[in-house]
Amino acid sequence: MTRNVFVLTGAGISAESGLGTFRDTEGVWARFDPMRLATPEGFAADPVLVQEFYNQRRRDARAAAPNPAHAALARLEAGLAERGGRLFLCTQNIDDLHERAGSRHVVHMHGELLRARCTACGTEPVWHEDLTVETACPHCAHGGGMRPDVVWFGEMPKHLDAIDEALAEADLFVAIGTSGAVYPAAGYVAQARAFGIPTLALTLEAADNAGMFEATRLGRASETVPAFVDEVLSETR
Ligand code: APR
Repeated sequence: MTRNVFVLTGAGISAESGLGTFRDTEGVWARFDPMRLATPEGFAADPVLVQEFYNQRRRDARAAAPNPAHAALARLEAGLAERGGRLFLCTQNIDDLHERAGSRHVVHMHGELLRARCTACGTEPVWHEDLTVETACPHCAHGGGMRPDVVWFGEMPKHLDAIDEALAEADLFVAIGTSGAVYPAAGYVAQARAFGIPTLALTLEAADNAGMFEATRLGRASETVPAFVDEVLSETR
């Protein structure tokens, strides 16, 4: 019986909630330049542009609603706990749709749009409003140093040690809605294979690292994820 599942989610799980993916034909990076909008250098060069880009994404995320895929993972978390197991939900997404669907333990390796970070004292308060270049830190009062608490290209993702530990303990590795284009997340399937863990991809189109997965199910997350969760939770032994 499956007890410990490691799930890695990407932008594809939030696509049906109306939030754009990055590398699909109309993706975010097809319309905006990631070097200007998702790097520390870009932020230093034009903080007003970057703050407004994330202000709009924060507004969009707050206006979005979780879809059946998010809800199914919340159900999986509760169901595995009932059998003495655990869901380790690692997301590359910076929205809070997993939490709003009821997931209680979510690891945001690329940070969170609904938190800010003070560049002076490092505090990372929950933040739902727009950020400007004058926004003062609520903790140290430093003016103009608040940035979105998201991980930009060239920065270290978060929670890497916890992720590596959870990978080693998993019975099953599942990647949902991710293109496998960005490391270290794209390398987790290889780590799972090295540990002898079964691997499954649930995605709309085959990912860059599709060949690494033992099984791939193509389809919309709002259909494939509930079906997958039903399978796991209906195991009788
Ligand atoms: N259901 C399931 N999968 C979907 C759906 C859907 N409705 N729509 C799109 N997908 C799949 C696409 O086929 C693609 O494989 O989701 C994936 C989205 O890939 P990307 O846009 O590259 O998003 P992601 O993999 O999350 O990007 C990783 O790159 O820019 C950085 O930090 C950013 O976290 C992001 C990281």
